[in-house]
Amino acid sequence: MADVKSSGLEGVVVADTAISHVDGERGRLVIAGADAEQLAATTGFEAAAARVLSAGGLAIDAATLATALAKARAEAWELLPRLGDALDASDGMEALRAGMAHVWATGDDRTDAIAAIGAAPVLVAAWSRNKRGAAPVPPTPGLDHASDYLKMTLGTTPDPAAAKALGAYLVTVIDHGMNASTFTARVVASTASDLISAVVAAVGALKGPLHGGAPGPVLDMLDAIGSPANAETWLLGELAAGRRIMGMGHRIYRVRDPRAAVLEAAVKPLGAIGGSRLALAHAVETAAAKILRERKPDRPLAANVEFYTAVLLDAVGLPRDQFSATFGVGRVAGWCAHVIEQRRVNKLIRPASTYVGPMP
Ligand code: COA
Repeated sequence: MADVKSSGLEGVVVADTAISHVDGERGRLVIAGADAEQLAATTGFEAAAARVLSAGGLAIDAATLATALAKARAEAWELLPRLGDALDASDGMEALRAGMAHVWATGDDRTDAIAAIGAAPVLVAAWSRNKRGAAPVPPTPGLDHASDYLKMTLGTTPDPAAAKALGAYLVTVIDHGMNASTFTARVVASTASDLISAVVAAVGALKGPLHGGAPGPVLDMLDAIGSPANAETWLLGELAAGRRIMGMGHRIYRVRDPRAAVLEAAVKPLGAIGGSRLALAHAVETAAAKILRERKPDRPLAANVEFYTAVLLDAVGLPRDQFSATFGVGRVAGWCAHVIEQRRVNKLIRPASTYVGPMP
């Protein structure tokens, strides 16, 4: 992993937002007035997306958005033959970036937001199947966003429990304060550029392993550990080799990431599919938290969202190279909400830098 240094921007307030609030000390995530736990347990992706879009300033109800997204998925499917070699990328985030860049911006934020949110699952699922040598599967009218994404990926009608768990994941990651990709989207929007350009730029920010890239490596770690009895020895070996424990630690949270519990709860109903991996994940988390507490008593390092993301996305049947792009499938709604909210401020974001070079 790249050396992580402070950007010097931690805690600098760059916007007022009604979309989400992260309380790192108490471990609380509020999404447009609702606790993330409650939202993930009680609503599907469409309702959560309608909620964040409305908070951003695009008033829309869940049913209207659900219908519009189904249409947008169908339109994105029509786009696939015109993507050139975008879906041949070896990395899902590259395919998402290249594919999304083919969605024409109309300049109308409502139209563009629906097009972007609808296109993301179609692009990622088609990329995933293409990578495995399988033909893409078209969207199915009448399916909800999460079920359709799963069906377009797996090619079969998804198990309702798996689709519900994936929906809970997409809701959980829909927005998370002024993270790097959201800030990126707002910077682009602040130049009065179009929403699709802002989303493409945000995908680029999310691609970085310090932002959206940890769940795949978490699963690699669980595979390498294999059984709870090996956890402590394996983790100590990683730290001795100078590597970090994936899925542990967070820039903002000083307690366990509240999203970890939401995802853990969402995996439980999957029974046998998620059960054994969940038990292993618990054991590894407990061992990692204990070791890190001993090593770094002054720096609380607890499980972050990626820890149980890995378990959940694996349990619903998504291949691990699709995990980061699946994060994008959920987060794109948050980006769109922020672009729309940024429009209302209508001011160019132009931070300053300190010149440290020589003077002429
Ligand atoms: N495993 C082991 N040590 C860790 C650690 C981890 N997962 N996360 C942080 N640390 C240690 C660092 O080595 C550093 O120690 P030092 O002061 O002796 O150099 C200290 O804790 C502070 O780390 P820092 O990099 O300053 O914290 P940060 O807030 O910038 O980093 C993360 C946050 C998420 C980048 C970091 O915790 C990490 O790399 N986690 C693993 C990757 C991951 O799960 N990413 C997904 C994030 S949602």
